[in-house]
This record gives sequence, C-alpha cells and structure tokens, in this order.
Amino acid sequence: MIDGKLGVAIHGAGQVAYAHAASWLKNPHVKIVSVSSRKKESAQKLVDKVGLDCEVGDDFDRILKDGRADIVNLSGPNHVHTPQGVAAAQAGKHILMEKPMCVSMEENRALRDAVAKAGVKSVVSFVLRWNPLFENIKSLLAAGAVGELFYIEVDYWHGLAEWWTGFDWGRTYASGRSTMLTGGCHAVDAIRWFAGNEVAEVSAFSNNKKGKFEYDANVAAVLKFENGMIGKTSALFDGEMPYQFNIDLAGTEGTIRDNRVWSKKLFPGQTGWTTMQTILPDSGAVEHHPFDFEVNHLVDCIRENRESHVNIADAYRTHEVCMAIDRSLAQGGPVRLPLE
Ligand SMILES: NC(=O)c1ccc[n+]([C@@H]2O[C@H](COP(=O)([O-])OP(=O)(O)OC[C@H]3O[C@@H](n4cnc5c(N)ncnc54)[C@H](OP(=O)(O)O)[C@@H]3O)[C@@H](O)[C@H]2O)c1
Repeated sequence: MIDGKLGVAIHGAGQVAYAHAASWLKNPHVKIVSVSSRKKESAQKLVDKVGLDCEVGDDFDRILKDGRADIVNLSGPNHVHTPQGVAAAQAGKHILMEKPMCVSMEENRALRDAVAKAGVKSVVSFVLRWNPLFENIKSLLAAGAVGELFYIEVDYWHGLAEWWTGFDWGRTYASGRSTMLTGGCHAVDAIRWFAGNEVAEVSAFSNNKKGKFEYDANVAAVLKFENGMIGKTSALFDGEMPYQFNIDLAGTEGTIRDNRVWSKKLFPGQTGWTTMQTILPDSGAVEHHPFDFEVNHLVDCIRENRESHVNIADAYRTHEVCMAIDRSLAQGGPVRLPLE
C-alpha cells in the first residue's frame, strides 16, 4: 500500500501498457508505484508520455520485493506472462494479466495452480466483457430474449502486420505461439461468456496465405458444447479489411446478429431486425478497449474480497479451448476437452 492506496507495478511497457496506465490513473483507490520493462528506456518513455511520478526500472524481481506493490500489471509479450504471473502470485501480488496468459497447457496449469495456492485476486484481460454491446447481449440473454441458445458463432478477423508494435515477437512461434492464443482467444472467451456453457469438443482447419507468421495465420474451428449446443469460431490474421468481431447467437425464440435482434418474446410485432444503438467491438485499437472498467473491476474484487468472473481460473478454460483447437490443427481430427 502507498498513502492508503493499492500500489500498482506495471511490467512490460509496450502499446497496451499505455492504455492500462491511463486507466489506473483514473481509479481513486490505486497509485502506480513503478513502471518497468525489459529495457528501462521503454519504461521511462511511458512514464514521460503518460505523465507519471513513479519509479522506473528494468528489474522484475524488484517488483516482487516491493512492499508498496499490491497489484502487478503484466503486459509484456505472451511467453513471459506465465513465468512472471507465477512469481507474482508466489510473492502475494494480485494480478492484472494480459492475454494470452500462457503459451502451453503446462503453463496454463502452473499459473492456475499458483494463483489458487496463493489466494491472490486476478483478472485476465478479456476486456471485451465490458464492451457495451457485450453488456447488452448478456442482458438480452438473461431476459430470455432469444430463448434457449442452440448455435453460437464468434469470429476475430484482424489483419495483424508490421503496423502492430508487437509484430516482431507476435509473429513467432516462441512468443506469439498461435493465431488462437494471440488473437482468437478473444472470440473463444466471448463464446464461453455468452454460452454460459463449456466447449466439449473441437475440430479445426487452418491455412497461411501470406506467410507473415511462423504459425498458420487463419483458423476455423467447429465446436460442440457440453449441453449439446453447437458453434463455430474463426480467427484471421491474413484478412484484408477493417477489424471485424462477428457475433451470431441463434436461440429457440430469437436471434442476435452483432447489434441486431430478432425476438419473438421482446418484440412480438417485429417485422424486421431491431438495431441496438451502442458501442460495438469494431476496433483493435487499445484506446477503444474498455480498460477503465477492467481495472476498476479488479480493484473492486480486491477491496471487496471477491473473485472476478474473468480470473485466472476462468481464463484457464478459454486458453484450454484455444489449445484444443491448436491440437486439432496439429494432429488432425476432433479433440475432446478437458485436455488434462
Ligand atoms: N487485451 C487486449 O485487448 C490486448 C490488446 C493489445 C495487446 N494485448 C496483449 O498485451 C501484450 C503486449 O502487447 P503489446 O501490443 O503491448 O506489445 P508491445 O507493444 O510489443 O509491448 C510489449 C512490451 O514488452 C516489453 N518486453 C519485452 N520482453 C519483455 C520481458 N521479458 N519482460 C517484460 N517486458 C518485456 C517490450 O518492451 P522493451 O523490450 O522495449 O522493454 C515491449 O514493448 C501481449 O501479450 C498482447 O497479446 C492485449
């Protein structure tokens, strides 16, 4: 704690960390105590740009020993998330973890178990859960607007390339690992969030048209759920188009297609799609993402001693589905879950 506030240590000073820092600054219950990165000058650049008054460094171990740091904000490249997250949990720090939180099932289990053992609070950055369209859809589903869901489809189409600051590491197998883990995990998480049910089996196909990535850039997977629901997800990194996050939910009493609703229950006199006026998940820019709500949520969970709906234990399941899809790509044919 510092000055009666929760201390936040940001580690990994790339583009997403600027958005995190701006959100932490708005929360009255926290103070940023340090920013560090692999290179100290990157941390200094963030501190100067955002206008922070805090320690600057390049030493992760220093955060672990810093008694002022209650929350560690992990925003480095994918392959450092689990080792840093396990160490942070063992040091008793609460965790805001960027996605993907791991690059293998071994890491997935190690992180889940370390956080459970330490009893620290965590939020994994599936930030679209706070997107206003997502909130509207959850509310419509809870009101029974579409009856019983039997089909769900969510796609992440994002033409990642050199413009992305993380492209150099993100395009590699060692750090980016796969399309599903680097980007498609947002779609899988949305599927789990809307379905309220877990994926039981996947079957996937992929290709790599432009050769920009060390792994296949484009993936499509068919899903079967524990309750018999079926679905599909795809993630396209080779796509030539503005960012698209497609959402289709078909139920026994109605259908939702992005911000359009057809509901026999809510709109019995309906003659066409009803459109919701809201903010759509239609940009990959980190400034567009509702990080304010995400960091506020973690702070509330810590202050009220409750678990997040998107803690590391929950995100374990999202990452497991992504890795089941990757396993289906590698070995061919269907893969059943759980993978353990
Ligand atoms: N939730 C979302 O919607 C969202 C959006 C964007 C990104 N992300 C995730 O956030 C993470 C960062 O992505 P980004 O776009 O910000 O990439 P980025 O701009 O490349 O930032 C990553 C930063 O980490 C630093 N770094 C490299 N190795 C490190 C290490 N071993 N320990 C600590 N820091 C290290 C690098 O800075 P220096 O080497 O210069 O120190 C680099 O600037 C990724 O996992 C990505 O998937 C999530």
